[in-house]
Amino acid sequence: MADKATILFFDSGVGGFSVYREVLDLLPQHHYLYAFDNEMFPFSEKTEDLIIQRTVAVCKKINETYPLDLIVIACNTASTVVLPALRETFDIPIVGTVPAIKPAAQISETKHIGLLATKGTVKRPYVDKLIEQYASGCQVEKLGSTKLVEIAQDKIQGDSVDLIALRDELAVWKNIEDLDTVILGCTHFPLIKDEIRICLPQVQHFIDPGLAIAKRVAFLLENVKLRSKNEVENLIFCTKQFEIQNKFMQALKHRWGFERLIVLNLDE
Ligand code: DGL
Repeated sequence: MADKATILFFDSGVGGFSVYREVLDLLPQHHYLYAFDNEMFPFSEKTEDLIIQRTVAVCKKINETYPLDLIVIACNTASTVVLPALRETFDIPIVGTVPAIKPAAQISETKHIGLLATKGTVKRPYVDKLIEQYASGCQVEKLGSTKLVEIAQDKIQGDSVDLIALRDELAVWKNIEDLDTVILGCTHFPLIKDEIRICLPQVQHFIDPGLAIAKRVAFLLENVKLRSKNEVENLIFCTKQFEIQNKFMQALKHRWGFERLIVLNLDE
């Protein structure tokens, strides 16, 4: 039996690295694959059907060559719609990333909290149910933004953060003085947490689910019969060529130990 699990992370872009880095910290021994659907980026305002179809197609394609032991959908926009379809397709644990509403409601002292997510996520009935279930005693503000996703994506690809655009995007919350807790309900946002904090100085707690997901992965792996081939090379997959591919890979190799980038052809 192989002793390294092959774990795939999936997102539309670089947001999933905010989850991956927590899992890697806790479980450095495994074989990691990271896939991002840059052909469809950003997912924020895409239809639910398209997101389901793309996520399942990418995961299936990779599983053909690299038998997967566990998949982390490191994207809230996708997780809020795709988990049932993935669980029907794969017989392995599927871990989703959904807005951390329960811990936010618990930690807030003012009981006035904000959900910062994509435009798609803030509209999902799944999220309304979480709020109903875990935050009925709180006033919950929702802010859906595609711009913030793009700002975070640019930052990881080497651009400086446009603080003015960021401030404008968050301006509607600036004067809500008792907003003490904000849920980072898109995996891109922990990557610009320091910059978001500058724009919302009244917020005491920014909640992201990275560490909780890492613990969940560790727990689930205890009972998984590994199918992987004990591969060692950590790989990145995307769905279309892009201009700064080489620069991007160099940064990721040093930062998070990925060796190569493979462009998937989903039509093959
Ligand atoms: N990082 C993703 C999320 O957690 C999606 C961002 C996007 O492509 O809109 O929602």
